[in-house]
Amino acid sequence: MIDFQKKLSSLKEKGLYRQRLLLDSAQDTIVTINKIKYINFASNNYLNLANNKKLKKSLSDNTSEFGIGSSSSPLISGYNKKHMQLEKKIAKLLRFESVLVVNSGYLANVGLINAIGDKDIIVFQDKLNHSSIIESSRLSSVKLIRYNHLDYHDLEKKLKKYKKSTKIIYTDTVFSMTGEIIDIKRLSKISEDNNALLFVDDAHGFGVAQNCNNDFPCSRNIKKFKGAKIDAYIGTFGKAIGTFGAFIAGSNELINLMVQKSRPYIYSTALPTALVATTIESINIIKSKPSLVNKLYENIKYFKKLVKFNNIKINESNTAIQTITIGDPITVVDICKKIKKENILIQAIRYPTVPINNDLIRVNLTSGHTKKQIQSLVQSLKKIIGAAI
Ligand SMILES: Cc1ncc(COP(=O)(O)O)c(C=O)c1O
Repeated sequence: MIDFQKKLSSLKEKGLYRQRLLLDSAQDTIVTINKIKYINFASNNYLNLANNKKLKKSLSDNTSEFGIGSSSSPLISGYNKKHMQLEKKIAKLLRFESVLVVNSGYLANVGLINAIGDKDIIVFQDKLNHSSIIESSRLSSVKLIRYNHLDYHDLEKKLKKYKKSTKIIYTDTVFSMTGEIIDIKRLSKISEDNNALLFVDDAHGFGVAQNCNNDFPCSRNIKKFKGAKIDAYIGTFGKAIGTFGAFIAGSNELINLMVQKSRPYIYSTALPTALVATTIESINIIKSKPSLVNKLYENIKYFKKLVKFNNIKINESNTAIQTITIGDPITVVDICKKIKKENILIQAIRYPTVPINNDLIRVNLTSGHTKKQIQSLVQSLKKIIGAAI
């Protein structure tokens, strides 16, 4: 017999028991829980589009035209002209041959390795990669080797041990738990030097990366990434885009192989067409309104200036994900609870999401936050963290 209660009690004793917030409003900069209002710094709604009026109208109009569910998997009859339109649009924006729209970022990673993986392939992963990337290897027959976080010497050392094998380097572009960005030039060179493919997951960069000139904002289009050889690129719609779903971009052959062999794609109902059409609309909004991304980066700059002024020690990050390492799961939860009492939501990130003793507070900024809301957050952080550590 499996003792479920014992497993739960053990999590509680270690301070690792998780509880869901119960929102009774839409996702926005202000949310309500039990009719009480909170300033929300605990979402990936980076461009504040999840409750956007134009997008809500698009969803409603497209639902009138295309109905609600897609009712079957893409290979049966769930694939609509809107899915194809979105795939072609993203391929063009990102300069990849082909794109496959899938049901979520988690399934994008799992489905990608599921389609191509076999026991002769070795996947080299950063130790801080998102769970969906790590699971994608664990759930398949590939060999998984993890290198120390952002430690490219360690990666090269490990790659060199497997000269004759088929190799893939697989990494977040913007690390979901720290906000750090990979060194793509270096990774791209390492992958070429070692005859490895390079797969990147840009869940926290797609729609939101800065300095893309007239290109669509995403890590692929930022100056630093220009010219980098990327063999597979994953983006998600549930974060900056404000809708739901994800995609994989790559060569015609890679995407075709996914259509043929990726079980999560073949054996799951396709995304609703109206939602896909709304994702197209959201991409159009982001492309035509650079002020959205600019406002987010103004907020990031403002937050960093205020924490510095108030002597709060944050980890280095130039993205919307800002963190403070606390190093103990019980303290980190206690801090977030106290901040919640001040009507502010932030996220406690604990093991196993981060390594043991690296428990941290994560603040996610969005373009919708006002200066006043950011000031309230920093005042609360100063008061509560100052007293806790
Ligand atoms: C890097 C990364 N990849 C994939 C995902 C999963 O995306 P989705 O929420 O669309 O399943 C996340 C979600 O947090 C993520 O941070």
